[in-house]
Formats: sequence, structure tokens, C-alpha cells
Amino acid sequence: MQQQNDYKKHREKLFKAMLPNSIALLPTAPIIRRSADQNYRFYPDNDFYYFTGYPEPEAVAVLIKSEQKGERYILFNRRKDPAQEQWSGIRIGQEAALKEYLVDEAYPIDELMNKLPELTSNKEALYFTWGRYTSFDETIKNCLNKIRDKIRAGFKIPDHCINLESIVSEMRLIKDSQEIAWLRKAAEITTLAHKQAMRACYPGSNEYQVKAELIYGFLKQGGMGEAYDSIVAGGENACILHYTVNNQPLKANELLLIDAAAKYNFYCADVTRTYPISSKFTGEQKAIYEIVYEAQLAAIKAAKPGICWLEMELTARRVITSGLIELGVLKGDIEELLAQNAYAPFYMHRIGHWLGMDVHDVGRYKENGQWRTLQSGMVTTIEPGIYIKPGLPVDRRWWGIGIRIEDNVVITDSGVDILTIDMPKKASEIEMLVSEK
Ligand code: GLY
Ligand code: MN
Repeated sequence: MQQQNDYKKHREKLFKAMLPNSIALLPTAPIIRRSADQNYRFYPDNDFYYFTGYPEPEAVAVLIKSEQKGERYILFNRRKDPAQEQWSGIRIGQEAALKEYLVDEAYPIDELMNKLPELTSNKEALYFTWGRYTSFDETIKNCLNKIRDKIRAGFKIPDHCINLESIVSEMRLIKDSQEIAWLRKAAEITTLAHKQAMRACYPGSNEYQVKAELIYGFLKQGGMGEAYDSIVAGGENACILHYTVNNQPLKANELLLIDAAAKYNFYCADVTRTYPISSKFTGEQKAIYEIVYEAQLAAIKAAKPGICWLEMELTARRVITSGLIELGVLKGDIEELLAQNAYAPFYMHRIGHWLGMDVHDVGRYKENGQWRTLQSGMVTTIEPGIYIKPGLPVDRRWWGIGIRIEDNVVITDSGVDILTIDMPKKASEIEMLVSEK
């Protein structure tokens, strides 16, 4: 029940943000057919789950704020069905929804279209995220048309339709202490799995074997599995940012970039480390590694409440540009090179992204056209990288080196809390880890 109280707090926040006499509709995600009679593994819609903690498919949450009846949380969910339960497990049903999920009223999902017009009519505002699930857009359209049919009996459709997504995204962007605890757990599971995977890695093993170790570690420690498709990229594969084929042999003296993390209780970690497969960095690899390492430390140091999000980015770009000048990879004056984005062929993504229930979590990056300032409770990745694809017009000795270092940080009142603090990061720590067999 403790956990259900956490979701209730989220609902209370939404009720506060809603206009008087309004209704919010949140469907969970649809079940998606994979092939023949198999479906993709079901994941609830994250906005729905944030307010309900309700795991089953075929559910719609209805939040009503009204002057006469106060605030009501109504859930439409699947009926109990012993025949179906024999095949695919217990269904929660309406009775348990009331008792265990703190629902005020629960109705079978097949009654949605009978009840929804009455619940929606005569409200001032309807909150809903358009365009996410076509079939639910259709449900809303049909519901509004049913109300229109009764206009002469005194019913009316809501005067305002408000995009729920933008309100929910901003709520989800600022994490509460329980969410941070779940993110921390995801980071801890990830840390152990990375370490285990690297202990099991050797020249001649395959990217998929390392991936198998990671997934084993995520599940063994109580995680839900991968937070996203793992990236296990040996050698020059690391220069492909979202390399997920993961089927090539790992070669001595090359690097292995692992961008893989666990999901725990629907919250994601997102962690990257780059390891020398033979446990020692070559001179060139180490030189690039040090630049990325310094850029990452500098960006973390810049992160604190009140600074502009872009500040971390500019800090990392400066360290990367200056490091590449020192190595002779870039030539020229640092200010001019920065102004020309000369780092971009080597560092082409952003410094990080919000992290939460989604790996690239919801929440705006700009406000009124300006990069927003960091705020306590935001959680972001910090992940600079350098990728030198073979063929780039630089000395061949740099070709094929791809390095990214990614940590997960919570913005606190005074700076940051690094959730991935136990991940080895210094070049010497990384070498030590790979040599521990
Ligand atoms: N973990 C992959 C990414 O951040 O894009
Ligand atoms: Mn990331």
C-alpha cells in the first residue's frame, strides 16, 4: 500500500493543477500484436502508470474534479475472468482495484462507452493527450458525439480541451524522493551488471555474450530487464551512436562501448562506459578517453540548480575542443573552432537528456525559446563522447576510436547527487575492472 500512496500523491498534484469542474482521461497503452498469435510484452503507458501504479492492460483512469462531489479517481479495468485467468494469470478486477489501488470507483472496461459521456458532459475542461493512441482518440470522438446527441436535453461537451501531456510531462520532470529511490536502485543494479559483464568479457568473446551478461545481471537483481535496447559496441561499432546489432566478435586491443542499463519498478538508468577489451588502453585510446573523462567531470561540476541547461553542453564542448587541439586532431584557435562547431564531426549528440520512467524522459528543454535552468529534483544524464569514424580526415591512428562516458545525476539544492557513483570511471579503475577475471 505504501507504493500506492506514492501514486496517490501524483494524482493529488494533478487534481491541484486541474481547473474546477474538469475531467482528465488517461488510457494505458494498447496491447500490440507482434506476429501470428504473439503480442509484444505489455508496458503500461508511463503517464497512466505515474498516476495509477496499475499494471494491467485495457485500463483507463478518469480523474474528475467537481464542486459537488470533490475529487474522484475512477478506473475502468478488465473484469475477472476465470477462463482467461487459467491461461494468462490473475486479473485484478474491480473489487481489488478498490481495495489495493486506492480507486474511488471501479467499472469493467466494457462499460467505458456507456459511462464516459455522462462523466464528461457539462465539464468546463477535458484534459487528454491527443494523438498518442489512435483508438483512444476515436473513443473520445465518439464520447463527444454521444454528448452532442443529447444537447437538447441540456448536456454539453467541455468548453476547453487541454493537452494533458504538457502538464504531466512537467510534473514527471521533477522527481520526488520515492522516484529518486527507484532511480537509484536502477542505477545500482546497472552498476553491478556492468561490472559482471566486463569480468566475463575477453578478446574473442562476442558482443551478444556481453549483452547476455548484462541482461542476466539486470534480472537477477530484481530489475525489469533492459531500460532500452542495449548498445554493446566493439571497436569502430562504437562510432554508431545507437548500435544495437550486438553480434560481432570482440578483438584484442580494441575498445568496447557499453551503453546499457536496467529498469527498476518502471524507472530507468542509462549508463555508458567504454572499456579496453584487453584490459589496457592503447596510447591513442587513453588520450581520447582522458578528454571525454575531463569533459564529463567538468559538465558534472557545472551542473547545479539555477544554471542554464546549455552551460553543461558548452563546458563539455570546450574541453573536447581543447583536448582535440592538443592531440592535433583539430587545428586552430579554440574560440574560432568552437564558433564553427568544429567538434561536431567527433561529438555530434547532446550532453544529456532527462531521465525517469522514459529513458529519454519527458519535460521541456526550452522555455520561451531559451534553454531552461536546472532545478532541484530534475534527473539528467551527462554523457559526452568522442567518435572518430574511419575515413574522417584525421591521422589514421585515431580511426575507429569511439568513447562515451555517461552518468545519471539528480540536481539537488546545492549541486548534484550522482546515482551512478559506484561505476568505475577513471581510466585506471576501468583497466583494473577489466583485468579482474
Ligand atoms: N542510451 C541511449 C541514449 O541515451 O540515447
Ligand atoms: Mn543516454
